[in-house]
Amino acid sequence: MAGEQTLVEAALQVLNEADPFRKAKAGQAAAAAWLQGSISTAFSDPLSGHLLVPDRPARLPTMTLLPSRSMPKLGKGGTLRSRQAILHSLVHTESWAIDLSWDIIARFGRQEAMPREFFTDFVRVAEDECRHFTLLAARLDELGSFYGAFPVHDGLWDSAIETSHDLLPRLAIEHCVHEARGLDVLPTTISKFRKNGDERTAELLESVVYPEEISHCAAGVKWFRYLCTRRSKINSPGEEISVLTDDAVVETFHQTVRRYFKGVLKPPFNEEARSRAGFSPSWYEPLVTKG
Ligand SMILES: [Fe+2]
Ligand SMILES: [Fe+2]
Repeated sequence: MAGEQTLVEAALQVLNEADPFRKAKAGQAAAAAWLQGSISTAFSDPLSGHLLVPDRPARLPTMTLLPSRSMPKLGKGGTLRSRQAILHSLVHTESWAIDLSWDIIARFGRQEAMPREFFTDFVRVAEDECRHFTLLAARLDELGSFYGAFPVHDGLWDSAIETSHDLLPRLAIEHCVHEARGLDVLPTTISKFRKNGDERTAELLESVVYPEEISHCAAGVKWFRYLCTRRSKINSPGEEISVLTDDAVVETFHQTVRRYFKGVLKPPFNEEARSRAGFSPSWYEPLVTKG
């Protein structure tokens, strides 16, 4: 339909919104519109010139941004101030995750001619991250603080910039490695709240955030596998069957992470949650050492 907003246009509106609360609202509205069919087109072809994906999503100038090495310690949740600081860092991560999920849609969906299911999967991820942000930010208010009360580190977007030229490393680093790292640390974070008598926050993280984060890692693995297999077919025309075995997909994953991820992966891993995401040890265990 002429004049209808496309999903990529809606994604760019989210990325260009500096206010984190309005960003989450805009993201939720865009996700609902796509999932209910009131946005039906992923992108127009050709894209008009003004639809450029920003290098960094808009941020409020009032947030105090620090390099990660200068961030104050969050503590173990034994004091209210520590629990506020931990929750604040989770709220910040969710706001960054909102941008990351709309960024993969806006930056790569059309460029890589990805199927409709790719857009829908990451719209669902985006919808979850918007909900996580809103719920956790409201809980932070209940704890007597607010988003913006503590400094945040902006290093989260640096690794996204390093993979902004290619969907394959973007999927590997942000949507597999980082989402899975979130699964590793979340149970400890939940127990910090529970041990210190904040059952409400523990329950929110355990029953809403945690299960949905597993599905985000699953989306990363699914689309890494898809793109890896598709590229191997393009490079080997005429092959009747897929030329890429599962071992070859995993090997490509190792090469990609070794090239784009600084350092090595840190155990202990949450094997159970990772496996539920289809991310089995063969994908990540060899990456605990430099190859
Ligand atoms: Fe989340
Ligand atoms: Fe996530």
